[in-house]
Amino acid sequence: MSPLSDTLGIAAPIVLAPMAGVAGGRLAHAVSSAGGLGMIGTRGSSSPDWIREQAAIAGEGGTPFGIGLMAWVPHLRTQIETILALEDEARPTLVSVSFGDLAEPVRVLREAGLAVACQVGNAADVAAAAAAGADVVVARGGEGGGHGRDEMATDEILALALESTDRPVLAAGGIADAADVSRLMAAGASGAWCGTAFLTCREADSPHAARSAIGASAYTRYSRVHDVAQGLAWPREFGGRSVATDFVLAWAGREDEMTDEARAEHAAGMERGDVDYTPLYAGVGVDRLGAQTDAAEVVSALTPRP
Ligand SMILES: Cc1cc2nc3c(=O)[nH]c(=O)nc-3n(C[C@H](O)[C@H](O)[C@H](O)COP(=O)(O)O)c2cc1C
Repeated sequence: MSPLSDTLGIAAPIVLAPMAGVAGGRLAHAVSSAGGLGMIGTRGSSSPDWIREQAAIAGEGGTPFGIGLMAWVPHLRTQIETILALEDEARPTLVSVSFGDLAEPVRVLREAGLAVACQVGNAADVAAAAAAGADVVVARGGEGGGHGRDEMATDEILALALESTDRPVLAAGGIADAADVSRLMAAGASGAWCGTAFLTCREADSPHAARSAIGASAYTRYSRVHDVAQGLAWPREFGGRSVATDFVLAWAGREDEMTDEARAEHAAGMERGDVDYTPLYAGVGVDRLGAQTDAAEVVSALTPRP
């Protein structure tokens, strides 16, 4: 048994990254049913009712699953209390806490007997995850979709994390097929934490706009454009990798100069569902995605064969 199967009790070394707006209970359940571990992604605004509802769907029939939290969000405490009150099939196997102060949330979750994962993107994150007592460390490189750091590539942060901890380390960022997973596991990873690869699953909550904007011609850009345009309080060290639409390219690198007109243009574009303005978070593997697939196929395509 690999350390991952010891820690999480899963057959395939594949964890569905928690993706707010994409990974709800249905996708998490489908990934876990296929032998991986599905994680539900919460937003800062996810209510206790939403968390309870999605956890019940993910855990139906005793299927293991996880829930991902963001450490900086104002309602973190309420979200943690909601998770701690989940019982029986709705109780997660793993909770992740990333992007912000880890010590207190990790302590509270671990004291309640839950295994905790933390995503790390540089040496300071690795030290913070170790000090907090994370059970699983997710070495996430800048190739990854959604929010995170853009300081180190996946191979680099994996090597750094493996040097610094004896906990299982998952690799994340730009992982698109079994060859990627094999290479990273040969380098010491216990498994892979994959988001983008699942974006076009029929079980995902991905909006239609997101599905239509990904595929062979898509490429991505790391920036704070969508957060600044929407006035979201993401800490500035955590930008996001998203599909490089004209709006993203126009403002990437000069987010602090964004005008009120540009913000209004972004809001109006989002309102009418225009893909140029809709935040389409995705990693560098976005151009290797097919049109529609399902979770079991993706888990199988990511799992190295002996
Ligand atoms: C659409 C999308 C939404 C995401 N939302 C979250 C989130 O809510 N919480 C979180 O911890 N990470 C989130 N992430 C980051 C993932 O946990 C993970 O780091 C990333 O997907 C790995 O890179 P990959 O997309 O190249 O596989 C998100 C990623 C994507 C693509």
